[in-house]
Amino acid sequence: MNSVQKPKILVADDENTIRLAFENLLTTNNYEPILARDGIEALELFKKHKPPVCVIDIKMPGMNGLELLKEIKKVKQNAFVIVVTAFADMEKTIEAMKFGAYDFLKKPFDNDNILMLIKKAYSAYDLITSNVPAVQSENILPRGASEFRIIGNSPKMQEVYKLIGKISDSHVAVMITGESGSGKEIIARVIHANSPRAEKSFIAINCSAIPETLIESELFGHEKGSFTGAISKKIGKFELASSGTLFLDEVAEMGLEMQTKFLRVLQEKEIVRVGGNEVVKVDPRIIAATNIDLEKALSDGKLREDLYHRLKVISIHIPPLRERREDIKSLVDYFIETYNKELNKKILSVSPEVMEFLYKYDWPGNIRELKNVVESAVAICRDNTILFEHLPVEIVAKFEGRKVATALLAADHSAAAPLKAGHTESFIPVSTGAASEQGEQNEGGGDASKNDPGSELLSKIEELTARLVSYKLSVMGNIEKTDFYEEVINEIEKILISNVLKKFKGNQVKTSKFLGINRNTLRTKIEKLNITH
Ligand SMILES: Nc1ncnc2c1ncn2[C@@H]1O[C@H](COP(=O)(O)OP(=O)(O)OP(=O)(O)O)[C@@H](O)[C@H]1O
Ligand SMILES: [Mg+2]
Repeated sequence: MNSVQKPKILVADDENTIRLAFENLLTTNNYEPILARDGIEALELFKKHKPPVCVIDIKMPGMNGLELLKEIKKVKQNAFVIVVTAFADMEKTIEAMKFGAYDFLKKPFDNDNILMLIKKAYSAYDLITSNVPAVQSENILPRGASEFRIIGNSPKMQEVYKLIGKISDSHVAVMITGESGSGKEIIARVIHANSPRAEKSFIAINCSAIPETLIESELFGHEKGSFTGAISKKIGKFELASSGTLFLDEVAEMGLEMQTKFLRVLQEKEIVRVGGNEVVKVDPRIIAATNIDLEKALSDGKLREDLYHRLKVISIHIPPLRERREDIKSLVDYFIETYNKELNKKILSVSPEVMEFLYKYDWPGNIRELKNVVESAVAICRDNTILFEHLPVEIVAKFEGRKVATALLAADHSAAAPLKAGHTESFIPVSTGAASEQGEQNEGGGDASKNDPGSELLSKIEELTARLVSYKLSVMGNIEKTDFYEEVINEIEKILISNVLKKFKGNQVKTSKFLGINRNTLRTKIEKLNITH
């Protein structure tokens, strides 16, 4: 809360005298009252001013106090709402408390009582907002659009929220960077929804999805007949977003020629539609996003430096999900709740194994990937708990595949040093028969392989494979068809070939000779398995 501003309080009551009494009392006690005559007016004023504390009467014409309370909570979950009631409305009061009212005031009023309650509500609000990021604490729901709700309270996201809080009010250009699916667009929408332009349009344009030939007409519009196919006049995105926000997704994909034109519009704040003469004033706030390395795009000459600086007055980086794993739990809960409603399901929890997996997986597709995984799990799950078997096979396989690779590489590195007991201990801890049997055999000792590092390594691979098979079986729940064979063989082939290639410094003739495979076969495998060396 800004200390120079007086704390705002919304007072909604249909009785003139009560409003006046509140006005007097609050003004003399250094608050700024916002007065509303009924629920509808109150909601409008609430959306406009977002006061942390509200005092609302239950009985009002149009929208009553309870409905108003629900609407207020939708807009700002942590608003402290005090409901005013007469004794006869006790039931309503209880209901109001269930809907999240902070407290209630009984008529007739006692001024000291009112002031004390308001003060208490304000300190409680300050307490919770000092620990909760501004954006999240407002429970972002711009105009009821729950899809814009931002979940996640990790320190890294709190930094993002703080930045949003600082810049939303201004009109400066913002550049949002972050991996695909990390939430760039949702953040852009939240900046818009928290800005003075919130009531105006948010227009998004994906610069990579529009052919170079059409981007000019998309952005600036065109006059009828200005080119083949221009059958009617079209208003461009710049004009549509004029007093709102223009969101340029994948901005670095814009061609150089277009970048020049774009920059000119940003400087002159006016456009001319393609094929037209009229000069149209435009002044959208620009928010751009990209998932590529902009410094590299600059040095590769793919992005104009002057445009880059113009767009990047403020930059916000959204960290990938794997760098804020503490957000995973609340995101999973939120997506389960969302898809429970959407798919009419009653999922209550995820099993501890699944949670552990979700927590450890690297999420290359970030929140979008997590959201899709939860959606499909909720759709498949027939009971009330999400189990391993409800997860998409591909992500489990990807995860396991990586583990095979790590384990086998570890075995490879150990070729230089003698194998130690428990060397692969960090790999998939499964206490299954297959794994322990293998372990016992190894411990048995006394065989010729003991002093031969080659066969020791092979037996290690055997052990790892046995453990991998057990692991796969344990996570599958019931036997189903998978591509397990192909995945494992591919991984092993990849590791083997790339290691030999590395040893022979990329020489394919020597590599194929050493491996005993035909050179063409080697080349095909390098290509198919995407081997780089
Ligand atoms: N913090 C979050 N809380 C809730 N949902 C989120 C959050 N971040 C992202 N999402 C959801 O994840 C999906 C992907 O987010 P978004 O489209 O904003 O990502 P992006 O960074 O723009 O991705 P891309 O680079 O692929 O365009 C959306 O459905 C969005 O609603
Ligand atoms: Mg996007």
